[in-house]
Amino acid sequence: MSSPTGEAGPWSRHDVVARVTAVLGSAQEARWLVDHVEAAIPSAGGATVDSRVRCDLLAALVARRQAGEPLQYVLGHWSFRSIELGLDRRVLIPRPETEQVVEVALRALGVLGVSGVSGSLRRVGLAEPSGQAPPTGASGTGRQGRTVAVDLGTGSGAIALSIAVEAGSELSDLTVWATDLSAGALGVARANREALIDAAGATLPGSIGEAPGPGRAAHPGALWGRDQERQRGEPFSPGAVRALRSLQFAHGSWFDPLPASLRGAVTLVVANPPYVSRTDYPRLDPGVREWEPELALVAGTGTGGVGGTAEIETVVRQAPTWLAPGGTLVVEIDPVQAYGAIDLARRVGFSAVRTERDLAGRNRMLVAVR
Ligand SMILES: C[S@@+](CC[C@H](N)C(=O)[O-])C[C@H]1O[C@@H](n2cnc3c(N)ncnc32)[C@H](O)[C@@H]1O
Repeated sequence: MSSPTGEAGPWSRHDVVARVTAVLGSAQEARWLVDHVEAAIPSAGGATVDSRVRCDLLAALVARRQAGEPLQYVLGHWSFRSIELGLDRRVLIPRPETEQVVEVALRALGVLGVSGVSGSLRRVGLAEPSGQAPPTGASGTGRQGRTVAVDLGTGSGAIALSIAVEAGSELSDLTVWATDLSAGALGVARANREALIDAAGATLPGSIGEAPGPGRAAHPGALWGRDQERQRGEPFSPGAVRALRSLQFAHGSWFDPLPASLRGAVTLVVANPPYVSRTDYPRLDPGVREWEPELALVAGTGTGGVGGTAEIETVVRQAPTWLAPGGTLVVEIDPVQAYGAIDLARRVGFSAVRTERDLAGRNRMLVAVR
């Protein structure tokens, strides 16, 4: 297909969406792609835009989609909870189940998050484990008056940035750390942090929004124009902006790059490590296997003999050293790995261990309190 828009004429959104829908078979995707093009090449003050430039960009995006590239990479950004994240092939596309991981992590910090604890947990079917009361506030606070949350394997920064935005307004002493073995992933996460701070600056009372200038928010998925306006919900609070600014990135394997001063002082460790087994990897959907980073997906067999659990094991084994007494570990897992993960967490000394379910009712998170 040479052009999704037919021969160049005046830009007609209705016609263009219809043509792209016919090509891709999805009206929703067509609208997202056209939204993206209109945001990238705006029609300033009602002036006629250069339809040819828009058509060329749209044709390029549609061709990428036709080649099987995930929509999120084609758009270069995607929503995660209350924030918009820039994405490219250096990072995993954040999944809906990871939004629930953040919900559980926020609850461990005693924070409601964007959707409110009780309503949201009821909606996603996360049952309170029998006989265990929901926490009423952050436990495991490290040094006096200090709340430290660590996101291991941060990728796009989805978890760390959401915690900073959603917990930062309520916990004035919150510091978030984010680690990753991939320098590329940390580059994306850092750019996302900058874009969120820029977006917050544009929405705080009295400030004037501006497109990023040279050297600012240089990530290809960085948000500007209408994309930036898609940051959902209320404008960020000053506490959220403070938490974003103080967020620390560290390059290395799991806990290794954290400063020794955090040993025994961390309130919350949250991780979504790679957990696809080497056996299952070739059977993944090509849209995942051929486009998303293998480092983000695949893990070796753990000591218990279950495929894909090697990295989960490392995180669970090392977490007690870093958590403060009463601190919580939240790890996303494959449901088939739940029993092994629970068993390991008990063996390494966690006092309360349970799993939480995803939207499909499968055990998707290990939750362990030191
Ligand atoms: C499943 S992705 C999760 C990304 C992001 N946290 C999310 O939930 O969307 C796993 C992440 O762990 C990182 N990773 C893999 N091995 C690692 C290691 N040994 N230490 C730290 N990070 C690692 C990958 O680069 C990737 O960003």
